[in-house]
Amino acid sequence: MKVTVVGAGNVGATCADVLAYKEIANKIVLVDIKEGLSEGKSLDIFQKAPINLYDTKIIGSTNDYSKTKNSDVVVITSGLPRKPGMSRDDLIETNSKIVKSVTENIIKYSPDCIIIIVSNPLDVMTYQAHLTSQFPREKVMGMAGILDTSRFRAFLADELNVSPKDIQSLLLGGHGDTMVPLPRYTTVGGIPVEELIDKKRLKKIIERTKYGGGELVKMMGTSAWYAPGAAAAQMVESIIRDQRRIFPVCVKLDGEYGIDDCYLGVPVILGSNGIEKIIELKLKSSEKKLLDESRVHVKEVMSVLENL
Ligand SMILES: NC(=O)c1ccc[n+]([C@@H]2O[C@H](COP(=O)([O-])OP(=O)(O)OC[C@H]3O[C@@H](n4cnc5c(N)ncnc54)[C@H](O)[C@@H]3O)[C@@H](O)[C@H]2O)c1
Repeated sequence: MKVTVVGAGNVGATCADVLAYKEIANKIVLVDIKEGLSEGKSLDIFQKAPINLYDTKIIGSTNDYSKTKNSDVVVITSGLPRKPGMSRDDLIETNSKIVKSVTENIIKYSPDCIIIIVSNPLDVMTYQAHLTSQFPREKVMGMAGILDTSRFRAFLADELNVSPKDIQSLLLGGHGDTMVPLPRYTTVGGIPVEELIDKKRLKKIIERTKYGGGELVKMMGTSAWYAPGAAAAQMVESIIRDQRRIFPVCVKLDGEYGIDDCYLGVPVILGSNGIEKIIELKLKSSEKKLLDESRVHVKEVMSVLENL
């Protein structure tokens, strides 16, 4: 199987590294616009193979998309990251142009690929890739929910002093301050989290999760990459190995959850055809209200894109 990762910056290179050392694909192409960057990072990842014991072939390419020909899955991470004080939505003008041109190049050489968007603002960049590729919704999706739930799970593991492995969780909505964590669907070793932690403390952790990306931007002056890169690689793995794992993924809703024509994070089954199924939860009215607020926000940013 062949995977292309576009953008050899922090997130893209991390994603390519995880794909390589976990041998998720046997061929990886890393593309960037900066001369030599993707070639250098690919060579570095390949030189780690004898230490970490993998035999994935990985090559870099400076903007030569012919090398990406017949990719099964393409991860798009190209674009500006946030700086302190910026919202994800502030990136729309620059990143929409980048995502559009990258998508055009990708579909020229891999008309049957599955596209995973990472660039921000996530939900709207996924919409951009859909507009450009005209691929069916099963084949264009965005990575955010795995990262956001992973942050929530990590904070809970720390709070409860238990292994992060034992925490399962779910969230809905856009990738931003309007995301909707669902404590009702969060368990620790099978035990509902609400039985282990008091409401006030849980609320604080939910708030920290919503601003988890911003917390890191403040610390580092740019956005995170280890968890985002690993999250995108986990989506690729579920597709390539047809694992049919259930993850929150940004996908176009066509009536599910009573929402039409909007890109939002919802639980899906991810397999060899991409989005195999959208899972519709029976939401409480308070949860539905939060999801609707998230929809309104994403729709606003979608219309900014349409008017650019
Ligand atoms: N969805 C998420 O949860 C999530 C998480 C973290 C970061 N992000 C987003 O991912 C994107 C990348 O973040 P990063 O930290 O890796 O940034 P980065 O600056 O480290 O890397 C971005 C790379 O994209 C390249 N690039 C720019 N234009 C290009 C083009 N036309 N073709 C090919 N490559 C091009 C740049 O040269 C750079 O190497 C940002 O938009 C960031 O906001 C999303």
